[in-house]
Amino acid sequence: MSTLRDLAEEHTALRPADIDHLHRIAGDWQLLSDLSFADLLLWVPVDGDGTFLCVAQVRPTTAPTAYLDDQVGRIVGGAEVAHLEVAHRQGRIWREGDPVWYGDVPARHEAIPVRLRTGDGEAGEVIAVVGRDTNLSTARTPSQLELNYLTTADDLAQMIADGTFPPPRHPGETTSAPRVGDGLVRLDANGKVTYASPNAQSAYRRLGYASHLVGEDLAKLHRRLAGDPLEGTDAGNAVLAALRGEAPPRREIDARGATMLTRALPLMPAGVPIGALVLVRDITEVRRRDRALITKDATIREIHHRVKNNLQTVAALLRLQARRVAMPEARVALEESVRRVASIALVHETLSLSSDEAVEFDGIVDRVASAATEVAATEVSVGMRRRGTFGILPAEIATSLVMVLNELLLNAVEHGFPPADEEAAAPADAPRPEAEVTAPRPEVVVTAHRARKQLHVTVTDNGRGLPEQFDAERGGNLGLQIVRALVTGELRGTIELRNGADGGTEAAIVVPLARGTTDRLTGRAGPP
Ligand SMILES: Nc1ncnc2c1ncn2[C@@H]1O[C@H](COP(=O)(O)OP(=O)(O)O)[C@@H](O)[C@H]1O
Ligand SMILES: [Mg+2]
Repeated sequence: MSTLRDLAEEHTALRPADIDHLHRIAGDWQLLSDLSFADLLLWVPVDGDGTFLCVAQVRPTTAPTAYLDDQVGRIVGGAEVAHLEVAHRQGRIWREGDPVWYGDVPARHEAIPVRLRTGDGEAGEVIAVVGRDTNLSTARTPSQLELNYLTTADDLAQMIADGTFPPPRHPGETTSAPRVGDGLVRLDANGKVTYASPNAQSAYRRLGYASHLVGEDLAKLHRRLAGDPLEGTDAGNAVLAALRGEAPPRREIDARGATMLTRALPLMPAGVPIGALVLVRDITEVRRRDRALITKDATIREIHHRVKNNLQTVAALLRLQARRVAMPEARVALEESVRRVASIALVHETLSLSSDEAVEFDGIVDRVASAATEVAATEVSVGMRRRGTFGILPAEIATSLVMVLNELLLNAVEHGFPPADEEAAAPADAPRPEAEVTAPRPEVVVTAHRARKQLHVTVTDNGRGLPEQFDAERGGNLGLQIVRALVTGELRGTIELRNGADGGTEAAIVVPLARGTTDRLTGRAGPP
């Protein structure tokens, strides 16, 4: 479906600033729809031919809709839009028509011109028309609440025609604004409550205010509730600002363990400040959940941090021991253990810095890879490259996979490019044909890509290849045993070891990502 902007750009001569204003209206008009008990349709005149195009629509949450079908994208001319034409041409609210019928739904049509104020605050030209269409099939004598809503709706409708509604946005307001149904308070020009909806009354009661709101000075009440009668509190000042005709940001009041979100709007039809509208919502539960999540998150990060520290301590102890043993084999074994432990510590370090149980794995691979090159014999310098991206991996996969890659990378460096003397000692029939003539630069390449919920990883070197008669299925020492156990066990994947196409060794791993894994872009857990 086309967006408001697409539609307006395709069919009208509206300027970007006009379209921005229409976006602001569509972002804030649920309020007017709910207070009006009516559907709102945003119509723009199609360039030059007397027809109107519907670019946005909102249904009331307080009443039945007049339109079961979506109206966005409709282009209409003639009698059906005559009232829009009047509002557009004369720049006034049109509301004098008889009910019309949509199928068997009787409806009342009204039309509100939309003005965009000029830079110097003058009411500008009419750029669009808001159709306000009420389903009359359930209409009856309105209750007191309904009368109050309708009066306020008319004030806001006039402000749309004046170009003073919607008020400017405050950047960074992420919590959704309170809605009409959450709680509504209307104030007169002196800041006294003239009407409070039952939900608003209940929300204030939760903050500890038990009497009736009508007649109260709301700014003073906010200060009292916030326990700060002298200093101006934010929620108190917001009310005063709205009474002055400004549009303050949303504010919260905390009292008695409850939290209420407030949004104060000026009411100034025809430019005359006649009071304010304050929407309130009890957000105690939302805040409680936020706090619980934050502490849980912080605890998990702290635990990863401690696990990392403990693993680093273990690695340091092993390193100390390695220095003390005389037997070379024992020393090598201990040094290998140091690297294994350190590679797991790397995953926990990354987890301790991230906000969810998933890690950006590329950075980890690069660090393990560069640590592996240091193991290369001093006279051989091995290049490391990564192609493709691992993306974001869940912690369980990351911890096993980093161990696997650590072993494979170390093998490539250690066994693919042995020091010169060892190579000389190798049997004369060792498979290294023209290698000495062309002498390719020693290199290890790690590739990663995702396809069909699988992660495909290869570790390829251009070294001397696997020993002859090497059993690729079962052969090897502790290193390859660890690799096979982790890949087929923890990771439920497959691994294949083979000689590379042009010499060297290639290890190919496929790991399924489907079950409880993480989406590559968002890092959020996918459906189980
Ligand atoms: N990339 C490789 N290039 C050449 N030989 C390899 C490679 N990877 C493994 N191998 C061979 O497989 C053997 C087993 O490796 P591994 O199980 O990791 O034990 P270790 O590294 O302790 O020897 C190595 O000794 C080596 O002969
Ligand atoms: Mg090894």
